[in-house]
Amino acid sequence: MNIVIFGAPGSGKGTQSEKMIERYGLSHISTGELLRDNIARGTHLGQVANQYISQGLLIPDELMIEVLSELFKEKPSMLEKGVIFDGFPRTIPQAEALSTMLDAHGTKIHAVVGLEVDEDELIRRILERGKASGRADDNLDTVRKRLDVYHKQTAPLRDYYLAAGSYHAIEGNRTVDAIFDDISKSLDEYKS
Ligand code: AP5
Ligand code: MG
Repeated sequence: MNIVIFGAPGSGKGTQSEKMIERYGLSHISTGELLRDNIARGTHLGQVANQYISQGLLIPDELMIEVLSELFKEKPSMLEKGVIFDGFPRTIPQAEALSTMLDAHGTKIHAVVGLEVDEDELIRRILERGKASGRADDNLDTVRKRLDVYHKQTAPLRDYYLAAGSYHAIEGNRTVDAIFDDISKSLDEYKS
């Protein structure tokens, strides 16, 4: 089972991914974590990514798709286990490229879990986390930019996956456990 966990910045993608890994034993690809790891190690990719991340902008599609493609080449076994995609795709071209890459490996996206959270709650969560996270993009100016980018470039994917019949809307203004109960119901239903 390959799952996309979808939602705005601060909607709980990372938090719910951890619970899904535990319950379903899936691999996890967080493009944000992958890029932050590259920034910390000072790689060339990290240096390029930092210029975009610190401004709340998306890394260009071409580069991001290349990074994913390399990852699948290096670790094809990931796809045997099933993957939770967290933070990818973020644009329609990324979704199309993901579909093509998975198709080449004889698989596809089985479900998209969409965490739907009010904007004031998103800002509250990110600023709270920003007190200790050390993330260059967890401040009010960058959060506003990230939300703006989300509405313009990423939110259209909701309709894309709704049309594909794979989108599961999850009410995300609740406790972590209440949200996870709903996610599990959707995925268990799907699996059976
Ligand atoms: P990325 O790392 O993906 O960040 P994001 O989408 O902005 O989301 P966050 O990681 O901030 O939030 P989350 O949804 O994971 O929520 P979390 O569980 O942490 O991307 C960062 C940047 O990298 C992008 O802006 C872009 O520049 C670049 N990038 C990454 N992928 C890319 C791509 N595919 N293409 C181009 N560029 C890309 O929760 C947030 C906080 O809330 C936590 O403190 C958590 O403890 C708390 N919390 C979670 N759930 C709840 C709850 N139910 N109630 C109360 N608090 C909660
Ligand atoms: Mg995250």
